[in-house]
Amino acid sequence: MRRVTTGVKIIKSQSFNVKQFRKMVMGVDVRVPVHKNRPARFINFDNAASTPALKPVYDKLKDYLKWYSGVHRGTGHKSILSSQRFDKCHEDIARFVKADPERDTAIIVKNTTEAINKLSYRLNLSPTDVVVSTMMEHHSNDLPWRRAGRIDYAGLDSEGRLDLQDLSRKLRFWYPRVRLLTVCGASNVTGHINNIGHLAALAHEYGARFMLDAAQYAPHQALDMKPHGHPEHIDYLAFSGHKIYAPFGAGVLVGPRDTFLKGAPEYAGGGTVALVGSSQVKWGGVPDRDEAGSPNLIGALALSETLKILDSIGMEKIAAYEEQLTEYALRLLKGVPGLTVYGSLPRVGVVSFNMRDVNHSLLGAILAYEGGIGIRTGCFCAQPYVRHLLGQEEPANLDEYARLPVWEMPGLARISLGAYNTLAEIEKLAELLHRIAARKKEYQREYVLDLGGAGYIPRSGLTPVPLHLSLDL
Ligand code: ALA
Repeated sequence: MRRVTTGVKIIKSQSFNVKQFRKMVMGVDVRVPVHKNRPARFINFDNAASTPALKPVYDKLKDYLKWYSGVHRGTGHKSILSSQRFDKCHEDIARFVKADPERDTAIIVKNTTEAINKLSYRLNLSPTDVVVSTMMEHHSNDLPWRRAGRIDYAGLDSEGRLDLQDLSRKLRFWYPRVRLLTVCGASNVTGHINNIGHLAALAHEYGARFMLDAAQYAPHQALDMKPHGHPEHIDYLAFSGHKIYAPFGAGVLVGPRDTFLKGAPEYAGGGTVALVGSSQVKWGGVPDRDEAGSPNLIGALALSETLKILDSIGMEKIAAYEEQLTEYALRLLKGVPGLTVYGSLPRVGVVSFNMRDVNHSLLGAILAYEGGIGIRTGCFCAQPYVRHLLGQEEPANLDEYARLPVWEMPGLARISLGAYNTLAEIEKLAELLHRIAARKKEYQREYVLDLGGAGYIPRSGLTPVPLHLSLDL
């Protein structure tokens, strides 16, 4: 097999210790079967979808479960403790993003999608209000706004970067009707990092509030909402636990208390109210009003404990390490014949690419079955953005796409790195990509489409994954 040698020496990130961090990450030693070879250690390059959990957090959760009880509902010791812990999670999460403890509230939700949907309801937009967004958004920072009011999108350049002139034009055009500018901190397709401070200042200049979709930003970069009144203040911010090493079902929406003290929540019920008459309701305070039903205490604990660990390591150190990892990946990928890499710097470790004459879905299958490397392929819930990167027009009728099986849809292959990934893993990926580039025809013959829905699989069939699980599957 071709060895990839680039002259890049071992990464010495100031003080981020990847070996130590890796020890905390669950599942890094899992082996998976690979085609015609011995099982390989699974390489997870799909962190933009979900990151693994951290062992110290898992241990704390296991320990806490003996105290687990209802939140804000009971009078017993366990309930009192659980209520206190749940309230404290909000403070810890708000501190991680440098929210204002007096003026902001952190609302615990399921994930970024739920957070943005919630905000789209709670802003109570009128039909004449406008939300400005961009063409590079995840569907979750697009579709909720289409329903809530009028939305307009700032365009992109050919590299998939935000066209700031177009954005200013749109804000000027819609002024004074623009209520919100909502933008991702980092793209889940190209990893491109937007200039958050500049965007927030621009929104405020036009009298709008600024919302940051931090789903792909929070796991990689330090967040700072900046004080209220600061031109670069982030008014609303959302991210998911499952993308930041806390996959226990909690995410967060942070924003000013005044937004949520107004009006009724979109979900009403237990926990949201202070008083209920037969025809009147007095809603509770914040964040209770927006956390209907019994909350996900374990998810909230997982998120706040994980953020404490990341904070103690230092997000700046994580960012510096990942920057070097990303540079290395870009350098090696660009050396693979026939590989087109999309997007441009500055970027987090999310890199999408295509190999000439190899379907993205087939490429993903070969990486999995030949190398035990997990990536994601397709459109990553960002179809308009992917079409833009591929230079494709939107079909007049989306049914044209609907007729295609999912693996035939236009798309990309994507690797997404976490702080526990290593240079050696990137080298393994690059070696396999070189091999695929050199033997395209052979691989195309060896893989077939499983029309039952599994996508591409080796012609010789799948080797079952050896399961040593206590769960019944
Ligand atoms: N939005 C997540 C991703 O990009 C699920 O994979």
